[in-house]
Amino acid sequence: MAEILRQDQALEAACRLLDAGELVAIPTETVYGLAADATNGEAVARIFEAKGRPRFNPLIAHVADRQMAEGIAVFPPLAARLAEAFWPGPLTLVLPHRQGSGIHPLVTAGLDTIALRYPRGFGRDVIARLGRPLAAPSANISGRVSGTTAEAVNAALGNRIPLIVDGGPTPVGLESTILKVTDEGLTLLRPGGIAAEEIEGVVQVPLSRGAKGIEAPGMLASHYAPHARMRLNVAEVMPGEALLAFGPARAKGAETAAEVMNLSPSGDLREAAANLFSHLSRLDAGGAVTIAVEPVPLTGLGEAINDRLMRAAAPRDSQDEEH
Ligand code: TXA
Ligand code: MG
Repeated sequence: MAEILRQDQALEAACRLLDAGELVAIPTETVYGLAADATNGEAVARIFEAKGRPRFNPLIAHVADRQMAEGIAVFPPLAARLAEAFWPGPLTLVLPHRQGSGIHPLVTAGLDTIALRYPRGFGRDVIARLGRPLAAPSANISGRVSGTTAEAVNAALGNRIPLIVDGGPTPVGLESTILKVTDEGLTLLRPGGIAAEEIEGVVQVPLSRGAKGIEAPGMLASHYAPHARMRLNVAEVMPGEALLAFGPARAKGAETAAEVMNLSPSGDLREAAANLFSHLSRLDAGGAVTIAVEPVPLTGLGEAINDRLMRAAAPRDSQDEEH
């Protein structure tokens, strides 16, 4: 069961666990977050495991200041004005992701944008002390309401994580507003703790609400697609194919593969999740026409891994139609 510590006594313990790749539930001004070191793939994989998320949605990376944020993402002028006006606070900005930011690809689910938020209070303090950004979705089981008290978080996740930091009921009580910022303008991806009208009032730019938003993972599916064709659950590799392997046993013909990357030689699903996006893009960059993928079991994190692989394998047209 999770230890529950008051926030004024929890900073050191939280940092120690996060530094070791463990999960900690932390209070932010919006809702409690289920936090992991955003630079550690296996730590981030634990988030999906604990939440029971059936797919790898991209996560928000939380920062302790503007400087940390600017090392991770590119800020178009509009984004700089928004950060000036609303950070720290319940506003998440989706921005172009900088190469070499140190953020693990599982956080962005392989996208070239990243969601950034600069929270107040304990959330900010723990990131500043750790010196690294934290990936943190709302602290609840997938599909349930977000936890706004330590008790609710404990009821949902207490048997899956080592520490819950109790900061009392969260003041905002609903998730951050998510805005996508490009050179063209602003799109509201999720209404939340800051009203759209308030944002429009400050930047004097209308928010586009046209996008179906983050509730429609199909919208993101086309970003997920590699150039190569994908062949899943292969028992045999065709000459010249790249092979995405899993576990100790090799598919027949593996020695004829153009290139082999193993998601987890020991068959560990957490390691496989952490490697998924980087291995796929590496094999894709190698230029093989087809990536053959060995079977990955459907248990635990394997469900999300298979979901991602099926999206990557789906014909491009049907992905564009998906909602
Ligand atoms: O208030 C909040 O935002 C809380 C606290 C803990 O910070 N966090 C939160 O995270 O609500 P989560 O994971 O439950 O919701 C984040 C949403 C997801 O629906 C995800 O799809 C979207 O942000 N998102 C993350 N990165 C994105 C990106 N690059 N493009 C579009 N949507 C993105
Ligand atoms: Mg959530």
